[in-house]
Amino acid sequence: MSPSTSIHGMWSTRLAFILAASGSAVGLGNVWRFPYTAGEYGGGAFVLVYLLCVACIGIPIMMAEVMIGRRGRQSPINTMRTLASQEGKTPAWSLLGWMGILCAFLILSFYSVIAGWTLAYMVRAGAGVFTGIDAAASDALFNAFVGNAEALLAWHTIFMVLTVLVVARGVASGLEQAVRWMMPALFVLLLVMVAYAALNGDLGGALRYLFQPDFAELGDKAGAAILSAMGQAFFSLSLGMGAIMIYGSYLKSDASIAQNTIIIAAMDTLVALLAGLAIFPIVFAHGLEPAAGPGLVFKTLPIAFGEMPGGSFFGALFFLLLVFAAWTSSISLLEPIVAYLVENRGFSRVRASVLSGTGAWLLGIACLLSLNAWSEYTLLGKGVLDLFDFLTANILLPLGGILIAVFAGWVLPRRASVDELGMGEGLGYRLWRLLVRYVAPLAVAVVLLNALGVLPAIGQV
Ligand code: PFF
Repeated sequence: MSPSTSIHGMWSTRLAFILAASGSAVGLGNVWRFPYTAGEYGGGAFVLVYLLCVACIGIPIMMAEVMIGRRGRQSPINTMRTLASQEGKTPAWSLLGWMGILCAFLILSFYSVIAGWTLAYMVRAGAGVFTGIDAAASDALFNAFVGNAEALLAWHTIFMVLTVLVVARGVASGLEQAVRWMMPALFVLLLVMVAYAALNGDLGGALRYLFQPDFAELGDKAGAAILSAMGQAFFSLSLGMGAIMIYGSYLKSDASIAQNTIIIAAMDTLVALLAGLAIFPIVFAHGLEPAAGPGLVFKTLPIAFGEMPGGSFFGALFFLLLVFAAWTSSISLLEPIVAYLVENRGFSRVRASVLSGTGAWLLGIACLLSLNAWSEYTLLGKGVLDLFDFLTANILLPLGGILIAVFAGWVLPRRASVDELGMGEGLGYRLWRLLVRYVAPLAVAVVLLNALGVLPAIGQV
């Protein structure tokens, strides 16, 4: 029953979807957010919970999101409304799409600020600023940088313009070209970094830190750690807000959703682990603090670039590729908003992109000011940037994930998911249905309720 094409265009090949969806998944979440969040929660236990979340919650929900998108072939708001009414259910399901749009604005606003850091660090690396730098100097450099609101604003603006430019051109033509070579290149360079860190840093220490879980060490932070690991899985896989749904809506009807999803999730996880393996050996060799927070990557890698031969070149290249990774993610954040404005308000793509990009840019200014001029304004102990990050990754995306799982597992009839997933009704399908109907929604709900303090058991945020 699902329409065979989307009015916004379609991926030209099956590979294009994998590239675009992994372009959305792989980004700052892997290289910037994963290592510092793991560092904040002591490493191994966090990583283990993260991997479990990807396998048991992330993959089934990603399959559900792609499936819903492909069946609806419209913006998430309209897709949810149409599919729900086809099943005689309330159009209020479109609220999931609205929540996704709110999330997209909030995430894009701070995402663009951090991507701006990456741009700035690319230029600095290329200019040789990191040559011979030690841990203290790198720390000071970073702190001075985030204290400079004008510089942050300039880089944030450049990045947002880049995002709007691609989205305005249309995702298929603008994005397909970029991801095709960027993803493999980033991967290779990460391997180079891991090799360098292994030879020159404390690889043993990093491996123990990341892969030897010590739950006892978490103590009363266990609830917060589990929430953050789950939130990180949603954030990193781009789940719970309609980005993967809209990409699914451009996917041809005969492509295998399960296979594509597993490839995407595996690549995303691999990149995050490689980033950890590039960073932590240097952290330990230089006596840096794993719990240094959002600055971790920006304080650590310059030290390595500063001492390796050809470091200016490699450093500039690394940050350039990270900019591309962030770019292909930010595009997927803007796309659901733009699709909605085009479908329901009759906007041209260009107008819709400029307007929504401007909105996120304005919000981004609040985020970057929270690092300097507005640093004393906090809510729940967090500035605007931290608050947006926490609220989206740890609360709204998981909430969206529950709704997607419930919709796919309980609202859509079994027949529809069998048809759409096209994997028969064997063990694979039954496992997916079990995870999406029971395991994923219950697990996410328990973690969220615990974090809100509703369950007394595991210690709170
Ligand atoms: N997955 C992206 C990353 O790891 O950097 C961030 C992201 C993109 C989150 C798109 C959510 C989203 F919808």
